[in-house]
Amino acid sequence: MSAKDKLIVALDVQTIDEADVLIRNLKDVAGMFKVGSQLFTLAGPRLVEAIIKAGNKVFLDLKFHDIPHQVAGASRVVAELGVSLFTIHASGGTEMMKRAVDSVAEVSERAGVERSQIVAVSVLTSMDAAALAEIGVNTSPAESVAKLVKLAESAGVDGVVASPREAATTRSTTREGFLIVTPGIRPSETANEDQKRVATPAAALRDGADYLVIGRPITSAADPVAAANSIVAEMEAVSG
Ligand code: C5P
Repeated sequence: MSAKDKLIVALDVQTIDEADVLIRNLKDVAGMFKVGSQLFTLAGPRLVEAIIKAGNKVFLDLKFHDIPHQVAGASRVVAELGVSLFTIHASGGTEMMKRAVDSVAEVSERAGVERSQIVAVSVLTSMDAAALAEIGVNTSPAESVAKLVKLAESAGVDGVVASPREAATTRSTTREGFLIVTPGIRPSETANEDQKRVATPAAALRDGADYLVIGRPITSAADPVAAANSIVAEMEAVSG
């Protein structure tokens, strides 16, 4: 994969027009576009279809977490839409994850389309030890992440979403080829040394990330294309 292919631009915008402008301007600079809950709730599957029809790849970040039957059904629809990558919650359990994996396999066999890849979310980065304890989880965030990553791997999903803080450990404890998708990236010129949860694009790649999800440093920049190009250049310095 080239550096460009590894860059996922998060379309966290409030209108379809804003998303359209970003997609048109960034389609040759980024490898994929992330559609999350906000944009999907606004624009729905027709926007996802339109982005794919225009020749782009989509990372659908809806973090499915429901009974296995529901998640299997939703995963089938996502795979039929032609989404390249999508998220489910590892805390939904082995059966839920396996049913999602089976659904996408079935769709790709039946329709002969490229199989969507599934990445599991372990612990949301907004959850600290106190927030986990509140919901009855008494292991530390790091231990909870490690446990859920292994559960996701054994359920057969393609990879996980891992913060820069978790990427290196995840890389060293999972099988070769297990995907790591890393958000929380800030380009070196804007990175704040005090923000331990963010990493530069180069650092995240060195820690083993396969894809970088980057939103505001690109989408809120005065010149999003220049910002994306500069990030890709920084990534190329690592990945060649
Ligand atoms: O911060 P930025 O705008 O680059 O975020 C891009 C994407 O990464 C967002 O869509 C958000 O869902 C995700 N993110 C995350 N965990 C974080 C920070 C951002 O999953 N700690």
